Amino acid sequence: MNEVTTIDRTQRSYSKAAQAFLDRKPQLFINGEWIDSSHDAVIDVEDPSSGKIVGHVVDASDRDVDRAVAAARAAFDDNRWYGLPPIERERTMHRLADLLEREADLLAELEAIDNGKPKGMAGAVDVPGAVSQIRFMAGWASKSGGQTLAPYTMPTGSVFSYTVKEPVGVCVQIVPWNFPLLMACLKIAPALAAGCCTVLKPAEQTSLTALKLADLVQEAGFPAGVVNIITGNGHTAGDRMVKHPDVDKIAFTGSTEIGKVINKNATDTMKRVTLELGGKSPVVVMPDVDVEATAPGVAGGIFFNAGQVCVAGSRLFAHKSIFDDVLEGMSQTAGFWAPRASLDPDAHMGPLVSEEQYNRVMGYIDAGKRDGASVVMGGDSPASDGGYYVNPTILADVNPQMSVVREEIFGPVVVAQRFDDLDEVAKMANDTCYGLGAGVWTRDVSALHRLASKIKSGTVWGNCHGVIDTALPFGGYKESGIGREQGIQGLDAYQETKTVIVQL
Ligand code: NAI
Ligand code: MG
Repeated sequence: MNEVTTIDRTQRSYSKAAQAFLDRKPQLFINGEWIDSSHDAVIDVEDPSSGKIVGHVVDASDRDVDRAVAAARAAFDDNRWYGLPPIERERTMHRLADLLEREADLLAELEAIDNGKPKGMAGAVDVPGAVSQIRFMAGWASKSGGQTLAPYTMPTGSVFSYTVKEPVGVCVQIVPWNFPLLMACLKIAPALAAGCCTVLKPAEQTSLTALKLADLVQEAGFPAGVVNIITGNGHTAGDRMVKHPDVDKIAFTGSTEIGKVINKNATDTMKRVTLELGGKSPVVVMPDVDVEATAPGVAGGIFFNAGQVCVAGSRLFAHKSIFDDVLEGMSQTAGFWAPRASLDPDAHMGPLVSEEQYNRVMGYIDAGKRDGASVVMGGDSPASDGGYYVNPTILADVNPQMSVVREEIFGPVVVAQRFDDLDEVAKMANDTCYGLGAGVWTRDVSALHRLASKIKSGTVWGNCHGVIDTALPFGGYKESGIGREQGIQGLDAYQETKTVIVQL
């Protein structure tokens, strides 16, 4: 990995527009306006490419949370959003999508500064992904309805019975730091299409693009209070949001640990809950593949976004006949994935999001080494002048008891194991508390569909990994979550079904 040692990881200078955004006074977007917090507490904005503090955002107080929820409650209860003609709601959502496209370059840069992901990746994946979430859901504002249903036990014609889809109400939506803008839009889009009002909180590590989104919500002309965006810490502001009695629904993406806490906290007021949580996704490489073509795809499945992806292909199972060749092919991508500063135009992978995440990932790598895993590639962090860089890492000689095999690392680390036959690998793939995604690489159509049916996960990819589309439902089996996002199922999660029965 000679090329790695020669990379200059100094962060590039920011654009004027990005710097102006960072220089803004920390405020909250509540009831259609930018307002000051009730207290002075702020959270540092850190650029993980340099480790430098580059701005501040509000750490919302309990009073701030209450104000945001009250604004959403009032907006929902007087019907100022759901009561509009669906064509108006659809148009407003498309206007928001247009504005995201107009601001695409700034949004990509802010994401790169805040999260550490390469600006090129943010521009190619995160921003267009965010736009498509809103455009796809916008159409449902006018196209989702109920059914006329004939009763089973009463004479035909004696009653008129039908169902209506109604918005579930006030939502709190809490998103993580790995795809900040994309997750924010994935959350607000179905809520808005269904007619709900929302309070969104980005992760404390990555608030910038959500705040820029608030500017665009304002410009798009949503009625006041329909979308409120507040920044703050999870254990304080997030906790208050989740327990708030005036909230009807919680949508959360993040760790399984906090997902369980939120699910418990939602019970007292019986809030509707959707949870999109962690994963330890298996990737199965069958013996028939063209190794040279497959290995880079498998590498991309783990190293994209520095492995900070809920569906990262972090457990590789390669058939024993090609195991060494697959690892060799993946090792050849080390230069491509070598971490660089997020505004370096040559970057394909950036630093990890934070020092905390860096320590967590390096801690797992060290534990793997101590447990006897061998390092096929990486296993360390490259030279840099600050910043949280970890080299793309492949660990072999692992066993299912090791923490690197069992637990979500959420970094650029894959553990590689051999297998012999299909039934064996299906069992190995399912030996996890998670069930979010799985990848199968093969030209054998029968093997692919047999594995797709045996593996317990919300999505199975064939000859690709991590492909996500707003029209296709996404979510987890087992401890990877509850419910589905995207597609019509994603809209459903923001609707109640009302049945009306009228005696004639
Ligand atoms: P986290 O689950 O603590 O944070 C995610 C979001 O939840 C943030 O917006 C945070 O402010 C909020 N939050 C935290 N505690 C809360 C509470 N008690 N009530 C309400 N909201 C709360 O994730 P964290 O600590 O940033 O990362 C820890 C690990 O979680 C990662 O190493 C990774 O394994 C996993 N993770 C998984 C993600 C996914 O996409 N499935 C995304 C982010 C993290
Ligand atoms: Mg946490």
